[in-house]
Amino acid sequence: MTAPTTSVPATGDEEDRPRPASAGDPFDRDVLPTPPGATSALLRSLLAPMRARVAGTTLLLLLQQAAVQAGPLLVAYAIDTAVPAFRAHDHGPLIAVAVAYVLSALASGGLQWAFVVASARVNQDVLLDLRGRIFRHAQALSVDFHERYTSGRLISRSTTDVESLRELLSEGLQELITVILSFVYISAMLLWLDPGLGAVAVASFGPLYLLVRAYRRRAGRVFQERSTAIAAVIVKFVETMNGIRPVRAFRREAANDAGFRVLNRRHERTNGDALLEMARYVIGSRLVANTAVALIVLWGAYRVADGSLELGVLAAAVLYLRRLYDPIDRLGMFLNSYQSAAASLEKIAGLLAQTPSVPEPAAPRRLPPLASEHPGREVVFDGVRFGYRTGGEVLPRFDLTIPAGQTVAVVGSTGAGKSTLAKLLARFYDPSGGRVLLDGVDLRELAVPELRRGVVMVTQEAFLFSGTVADNIAIGRPEATREEIERAAKAIGAHDFISALPDGYDTDVRKRGGRISAGQRQLVAFARALLADPAVLILDEATSSLDIPGERAVQRAMATVLRGRTAVVIAHRLSTVEIADRVLVMEHGRVVEDGRPAELTAGTGRFATLHRAWRDSLV
Ligand SMILES: Nc1ncnc2c1ncn2[C@@H]1O[C@H](COP(=O)(O)OP(=O)(O)O)[C@@H](O)[C@H]1O
Ligand SMILES: [Mg+2]
Repeated sequence: MTAPTTSVPATGDEEDRPRPASAGDPFDRDVLPTPPGATSALLRSLLAPMRARVAGTTLLLLLQQAAVQAGPLLVAYAIDTAVPAFRAHDHGPLIAVAVAYVLSALASGGLQWAFVVASARVNQDVLLDLRGRIFRHAQALSVDFHERYTSGRLISRSTTDVESLRELLSEGLQELITVILSFVYISAMLLWLDPGLGAVAVASFGPLYLLVRAYRRRAGRVFQERSTAIAAVIVKFVETMNGIRPVRAFRREAANDAGFRVLNRRHERTNGDALLEMARYVIGSRLVANTAVALIVLWGAYRVADGSLELGVLAAAVLYLRRLYDPIDRLGMFLNSYQSAAASLEKIAGLLAQTPSVPEPAAPRRLPPLASEHPGREVVFDGVRFGYRTGGEVLPRFDLTIPAGQTVAVVGSTGAGKSTLAKLLARFYDPSGGRVLLDGVDLRELAVPELRRGVVMVTQEAFLFSGTVADNIAIGRPEATREEIERAAKAIGAHDFISALPDGYDTDVRKRGGRISAGQRQLVAFARALLADPAVLILDEATSSLDIPGERAVQRAMATVLRGRTAVVIAHRLSTVEIADRVLVMEHGRVVEDGRPAELTAGTGRFATLHRAWRDSLV
């Protein structure tokens, strides 16, 4: 069996490569399969619109470094020229040096300020763009993606991972540029002041380079582990809090604590490893730097003694050397933020590289206009085959025609494929074979607004967004007036309970007093669907949280609401069947009985048996 259209671009060799048992599903790992070059392409596309501003901030940094590095040179000039001149009662050079020193300090401060402001603006814009992209992309991805990529991971992508990129941009890059610039400036300056001393300093770059390379390699691994560890902590946290009710119900707290402690420890350990690597690096680099300084001071002192080197030059050289080896620690910092940002960026790029498995049509088609007297549309399942990625085929080959305006009740045991049928009709998924047609148009070709107006599904979850009750109903049709919202609520029997809330329709559903029960949530969801006024309404056990009188009331309302509309009502209580024109009994992804309710009840089939059992249970 082939899986439904895959959104993960799997390369041939990836399929062949034997995988460890734990790594079966790529979605179990944090890093999704990312096409080669996607990470750098993402970085480029983020920075491309700000090329001019990035160049401008770099220039500011260049100038600032020039001002900073003027210091030791001025000291050398003061010792070797200005002080002797001062002794000869010429005050000019010393005053000039003092003024130049102050000016260079002022300039470096001013430039530093300008740089910080300019680069912060660039960084904020980059991060704004990136967060927006992650949100838009995640929202556009299909339901099957979200079923496999947990919300904890998504949160981790848009928080920790974006944050580590922020660190790189706001501190890391500045460090890197400063380090490179000071190396270049200072080496040139030293070589110019005294080629011999300069050569010793430049020779020390060899061991430093090896040190940096080793650190980079080892820290890379450690940082990868660390970022996976923190993501696991977040995933566990989010999952536990999302499932807080079953956690309480089954007294899972202790087990969860233990699990969380393990993950937390792992994160702590990887953090420790990272610090250890950093410490090794700092110790190594200090060793190299101090050895080089000692050599230069020794040799320089000899040469000052025999008169081949001026004292001022030696002083400047030592000052420069200190400045030269100072940035090495910061290079380590840069490598740190670079490594974690690279790991994060790769994960973000992997997420952004996912393509929706339910893509928007390239050439969208419109539905034929509705005849005003009947708002329904014809639904056809034409040889539909479908299976979830993680399981076998749920619908082996499904054919069904629902004429416009018909109300179809679907019954059948749990796992028969009723919800799958509903989700295919709402285009949460695309079939792997065959077509689902709405008035003759394949759902895959249908323009998104047309689909939104065409098919609406109400499920038992009945999710409410933060906002008022009225806002939640208005999701069905954002431009609806308050009168229309209330009319929808009245039609479904939700008006009374809404009016009894502290602020009526303006009650915030997340605030105290705005708490509403599962059954009431379902009524709000109904009103929302009704307001949307779709051609096809799907109700998937949408009344399951209502009590019997509540369900009765909804059913009475349904009779009017559904009139003329095409409706698929998946029912867990057989009473719903009474409002249907037609009943389908599903087993194992197939329709095993299909007929008018009265016919089926009177017959000897499965439905008749079910119905009799249900009748008996009522008395
Ligand atoms: N998101 C999913 N991923 C994988 N398998 C699923 C998913 N949803 C449902 N299934 C499987 O598909 C089959 C049909 O499920 P469903 O359509 O929900 O049945 P029903 O609504 O009739 O109870 C079941 O075997 C179920 O395990
Ligand atoms: Mg179901």
